Amino acid sequence: MKLVLLLLLGQAAPAVEPGTWSTSALLIEQHCSACHRDDGAAPFTLLTYDDVKRRRSFIASVLKQKLMPPWLPASSGLDLHGNRTMPEEDRTQLISWLEAGAPVGTGDAPPPIKPMIPMPFPEESIAVEMTEPFIIPAETVETEHRYHEDTWSFVMPVENKAPLRIRGFGWETTAPEAVHTITLLFDGQGRGRERDKYDPRPGYEMTGDLNRDVSGTNGGVGIGMDRMILPKGFHWSLPANADLVADVRYRPIGREVQLNDTIHLFPTEEEDSREIIAVLTAVNRLKVPVGETDHVAEDRFTLPAAMDVVAILPKARNECRSMQLSAILPDGDTRILLDIPQWDGHFRRPFVLEDVLHLPAGTTLHSRFVIDNSTQNPRNPFDPPEDLRIGKRTGAAAFTLLGAGTDQAGSDALVELSQWTMDRRGSRTRKP
Ligand code: HEC
Repeated sequence: MKLVLLLLLGQAAPAVEPGTWSTSALLIEQHCSACHRDDGAAPFTLLTYDDVKRRRSFIASVLKQKLMPPWLPASSGLDLHGNRTMPEEDRTQLISWLEAGAPVGTGDAPPPIKPMIPMPFPEESIAVEMTEPFIIPAETVETEHRYHEDTWSFVMPVENKAPLRIRGFGWETTAPEAVHTITLLFDGQGRGRERDKYDPRPGYEMTGDLNRDVSGTNGGVGIGMDRMILPKGFHWSLPANADLVADVRYRPIGREVQLNDTIHLFPTEEEDSREIIAVLTAVNRLKVPVGETDHVAEDRFTLPAAMDVVAILPKARNECRSMQLSAILPDGDTRILLDIPQWDGHFRRPFVLEDVLHLPAGTTLHSRFVIDNSTQNPRNPFDPPEDLRIGKRTGAAAFTLLGAGTDQAGSDALVELSQWTMDRRGSRTRKP
């Protein structure tokens, strides 16, 4: 009897009134349409009532699983710029409306959603183009570089006569649905050109890392993020006659698409500014046999000088399930910096911190990656899974911290120790 009553009560009052299309359209405009629009990164638009109604149960289930809007970090880490976390009340409201059958409501039919169109790039920006178009194949092509699949690097000459300071950049792509992450390195030594020469195709089939320099040191973008801008007081240094080496990660979409992209560099004249450098905490070698579900790989790196951190770029293959970066401060306190409970390389991007983070000398960065190389991992790239064996000098799984020392000597010490550490482990990787 009691149980029946409870059940009845439970049914009587829905948790939230479903509302109408007017209320729901606002939520979709705010949380979805930046990507689900024409020329957006998502595979379909969510702009009209029909767009939404047709997919109402699918959308409700994706919302319940918190797969959309895509935002990898949990709130346990630092505050991040452009946070896309959808407030719980908005999520519940939208689900309630979808589950009630997406009622239009009374009154005049509201107009379709006006998607948020990205702002134009600054007028003074310098456009750098790909030298020839590349065709993204309809399907992933298997090659000898198996773990580099769907990653291609392009060398884009800037032809700048003098060195420049760059405060940010924007990415304009001809393949928004296929391309998901781009990371950059500025190259003044022709290292990218050397590699390009060996590969007769446009660009080359490898990551954009150049020797000890990690792609992303000069920034990156991702799905729903078309530009990266540094906080005031920081810049990237572009040497004279530099090339941009762009590491482009894409996912084939079942038909060939042409990639012929442009990077817009935003120069700055600001004098009182520090050059961005990169520090890594990374696992260089991963050996995870098939079936292992909870393989933990960790690294610790102690800063030899203080560092002001402005952004963090995570990296791992999709066998990685979760990752966390924390800082153990010299006084013993531990702080979570970036916490990604459900990794998905498709939504990889740099995370710019809302506030610059000062880490004193002697802080230990601790990175932890949990790898699931079994069939239970829905994102495992191999079906059936294969033994995972990768070694990379620049990290098989890594967090790259972008920022600067408090002065040039501090920055130099940070780079030197970070690269030395990676080199040492890297050489062990090459000769296991
Ligand atoms: C930052 C960009 C972005 C935002 C914001 C976004 N989406 Fe998506 N959405 C995508 C991309 C990209 C895909 C394709 C994902 C894939 O294929 O893995 C996608 C796929 C989907 C899918 C299909 C999922 C599947 O498994 O194929 C649904 C449904 C969806 N989005 C709904 C929404 C809703 C509802 C919102 C707002 C609450 C939203 N999205 C916000 C980028 C976005």
